[in-house]
Amino acid sequence: MLPTQNPSKTKSWKKLTAHSETMKAVHMRDLFAADDQRFQKYSLRHGALLFDYSKNRITDQTLQLLAELAKEAQLPEAIRAMFSGALINQTEQRSVLHIALRYFGKEAINSNGENVMPAVRKVQQKMKRFCEAVHNGSHVGYTGKKIKSIVNIGIGGSDLGPFMVTEALKPYTVKGIEAFFVSNVDGTQITEVLKKVNPETTLFLIASKTFTTQETMTNAHTARDWFLKKAKDIKQVSKHFAALSTNEKEVKKFGIDTKNMFEFWDWVGGRYSLWSAIGLSIALTIGYHNFEALLKGAYDIDEHFKTAPFEQNIPVIMALISLWYINFFGAQTEAILPYDQYLHRFPAYFQQGNMESNGKSVDRNGKRVTYATGPVIWGEPGTNGQHAFYQLIHQGTPLIPCDFIAPAQTHNPVGDHHQKLLSNFFAQTEALMNGKTLKEVKDELKKSGLSRADTDRLAPFKVFEGNKPTNSFLVERITPFTLGQLIALYEHKIFVQGVIWDIYSFDQWGVELGKQLANKILPALEGDAPVTGHDSSTSGLINAYKKMR
Ligand code: F6P
Repeated sequence: MLPTQNPSKTKSWKKLTAHSETMKAVHMRDLFAADDQRFQKYSLRHGALLFDYSKNRITDQTLQLLAELAKEAQLPEAIRAMFSGALINQTEQRSVLHIALRYFGKEAINSNGENVMPAVRKVQQKMKRFCEAVHNGSHVGYTGKKIKSIVNIGIGGSDLGPFMVTEALKPYTVKGIEAFFVSNVDGTQITEVLKKVNPETTLFLIASKTFTTQETMTNAHTARDWFLKKAKDIKQVSKHFAALSTNEKEVKKFGIDTKNMFEFWDWVGGRYSLWSAIGLSIALTIGYHNFEALLKGAYDIDEHFKTAPFEQNIPVIMALISLWYINFFGAQTEAILPYDQYLHRFPAYFQQGNMESNGKSVDRNGKRVTYATGPVIWGEPGTNGQHAFYQLIHQGTPLIPCDFIAPAQTHNPVGDHHQKLLSNFFAQTEALMNGKTLKEVKDELKKSGLSRADTDRLAPFKVFEGNKPTNSFLVERITPFTLGQLIALYEHKIFVQGVIWDIYSFDQWGVELGKQLANKILPALEGDAPVTGHDSSTSGLINAYKKMR
């Protein structure tokens, strides 16, 4: 059980409210001018990773009050509860133990009184053996050819994580292997993938925690029909289909032999499942040893999160600073901006990670919250984003805290591309912090030879307020290990915020409604008879669709 505490009723919240009024008038430009040690003070080095949080609207007092809030919210107790396997996903009566999937220590980790580690290690061994068999050609397709294509069929957490990681770690791809991902129930996606693969050399991974998700099961049946059309022998399915799931009964019902099933457990949340058997597409694509390095990176951060004091604890600081803007400055969104093309799905991955976890408005007592909770998460890789939406971050009305992420070394050292990429990374956070004053703008315009009148007319449009908060993450290189670290940092940030906001971060009842309603409407789409019984808009749309199709 997690402790419950309305954060807005704590002493520190009240102090933070008063403190925020002072801080709203403070410009970061002045904070930097007043303290040449600000970077040293507000940055942390952890192995190959540097976390710079100095470009935030914070002082020692802010951090101290935020740490007090975390203590009042009993964050240390909550961290212990998660790591010890307590049933902190209380609405589903489950432990939250993705940390066990990347645990390399010797202790037992219990869920419901049972040590989960032997089962975790057993599945990991099975994954490892399977990867080796596929890679060394001892597991071949039905005509004796080596497997070349891995098609992961899954959605949400059973897709976004594996897709994000295989993209992020493309330079580590095993020679001769190509990964494809099918998630949408829109038949276009599977059609396009099936055009690119050969049934003799394709392995389909049906990735679904529940093995009942409409999109995944529809795509899985389509893939199996396509395969059987060519292979013409049901016995060959076992060479080409594997299931990654918690639901043995449904896996059998689908026709996948349980020896081809890679199991995980209800204490693994869908959006935290890339570390489990759901990561098989990752391991098959980059090799099991690299998958293990990813797990080790996450484990390294788990240990850091568990043991580092709050003032040196990166995920805790990330969470507290983000909460500072959400609850005391009215920020509603946060951008994640990776300056690494391989990380192009990282923002989308944490869009689910964060929004499905903390998109909640009922507290742990079942009462409506009276304060803001999870933000909208979005983002695109730099520098593309700079030519799309940065305008609004620089000069728009909302306050949008941004995370900038970049590797110091590129996997593709072509000409001076990386230098240019990184110069943009540094320039953006500097500009967002400093801005450009009216005086600076006017001086610049005058220097360019503009008349006094034109300078006065144009200047207001060229002013940048600045004072826009950013965090910078600089890693030596994006490797399986550092990616594992980055992912775990963001996961724990979400956890910390959920604890302080007094919400349950590990259920997702909001998604269930959509699932139920779609299943209810589906039969009504059969035949041409007009439907009634919905609101006039929904009935009107369905009936128009029936006429148009
Ligand atoms: O989108 C809701 C959700 O329940 C996610 O949490 C989950 O990752 C996804 O559906 C897929 O579910 P499953 O793995 O059971 O197919």
